[in-house]
Amino acid sequence: CPLSKLFEPLAQRSLQLRNRIVVSPMCQYSAEEGVPNDWHLVHLGSRAVGGAAVVIAEATAVSPEGRISPHDTGLWNDAQVAAWSRINAFIVEQGAIPAVQLAHAGRKASTDAPWRGHGPVAAELGGWTPVAPSALAFDAQSPVPLALGEAGIRKVVNDFVAAAMRAHAAGFRLLELHAAHGYLLHEFLSPLSNHRQDGYGGSFDNRVRLVLEVVDAVRAAWPVELPLWVRISATDWADGGWDVEQSIELAKRLRQRDVDLVDVSSGGLVPNARIPLEPGYQAPFAQRLRQEASIATGAVGLITEPAHAEALVAEGIADVVLMGRELLRDPYFPRRAAHVLGDDLTTPPQYLRAW
Ligand code: FNR
Repeated sequence: CPLSKLFEPLAQRSLQLRNRIVVSPMCQYSAEEGVPNDWHLVHLGSRAVGGAAVVIAEATAVSPEGRISPHDTGLWNDAQVAAWSRINAFIVEQGAIPAVQLAHAGRKASTDAPWRGHGPVAAELGGWTPVAPSALAFDAQSPVPLALGEAGIRKVVNDFVAAAMRAHAAGFRLLELHAAHGYLLHEFLSPLSNHRQDGYGGSFDNRVRLVLEVVDAVRAAWPVELPLWVRISATDWADGGWDVEQSIELAKRLRQRDVDLVDVSSGGLVPNARIPLEPGYQAPFAQRLRQEASIATGAVGLITEPAHAEALVAEGIADVVLMGRELLRDPYFPRRAAHVLGDDLTTPPQYLRAW
């Protein structure tokens, strides 16, 4: 029986999370043609060995034009399914739940890896013209995207569904839809990036329409016994943008549509956002959504200390804690946290003499 709340198991549909620590999705910019490789096996596998309950693979594109960079992973063909299957089998062997974040980058597509400057990729170097709700560029360096027409919107929904089915075939057991950080679904939500005058723009109901259509279609295609999560940016941190009040209303609608958890991030829509960075700076949004929309939430952002992670769960701020950079620095953070909090984690037998 665990002493801490951080190590209390959590039921999500038919799954049992062994604790509340989730590896936040993190782009590795290391795939070719969308196919994950040994880097992804070792990167994700290490964090499964490290003791996290859920390992969420990076923003994985539902279509080639939905990639953030030419080196993103994807789930639009069978070669990608085969490569993911091997990785997921390993994660399951380690007692973790393999998850994937399905994504479409929208107007922030066709950019280079951060360590190569993050700039737009020219057509002759494998880049493409991004699509978006409206023909509004992210910033002065970014290309002006093509505004999606009705057929383009239908394709986006269908691509999410096809990718969800491929994710299941590849052995993923939990899906997260990426509706945060200024990528396509978030671009529809925010009045700053969505200037459409059809049924997908203008009013709140119209701006949330695409997200809800994707959720409905994916929920219908994804097995009923497996959880569906959605990551949102709770606020754009910008005047006239998406904000926490709208996030609460969206979260209520997500709950009605059988979404199991909202992963509460923020920002990414506009370059000039004013973000008050401090440990757990996004956690108050997770708390408000949990309380006011009665839906399970994940807290993420600058969470690095075992006692902090424990408090977020124990105080009812969030149901799970997602961690990114701390788990890059230390894949064994869950073991360290268990030790600090007086709990125990099953140790791989190969490592028994180390603990
Ligand atoms: C990220 N982040 C991110 N978020 C997301 O939703 N999808 C993604 O693919 C990525 N990619 C990514 C790559 C790298 C290298 C980093 C560091 C971050 C954001 C990440 O999931 C997390 O929300 C933030 O990093 C904040 O959490 P930490 O790192 O402070 O624990």
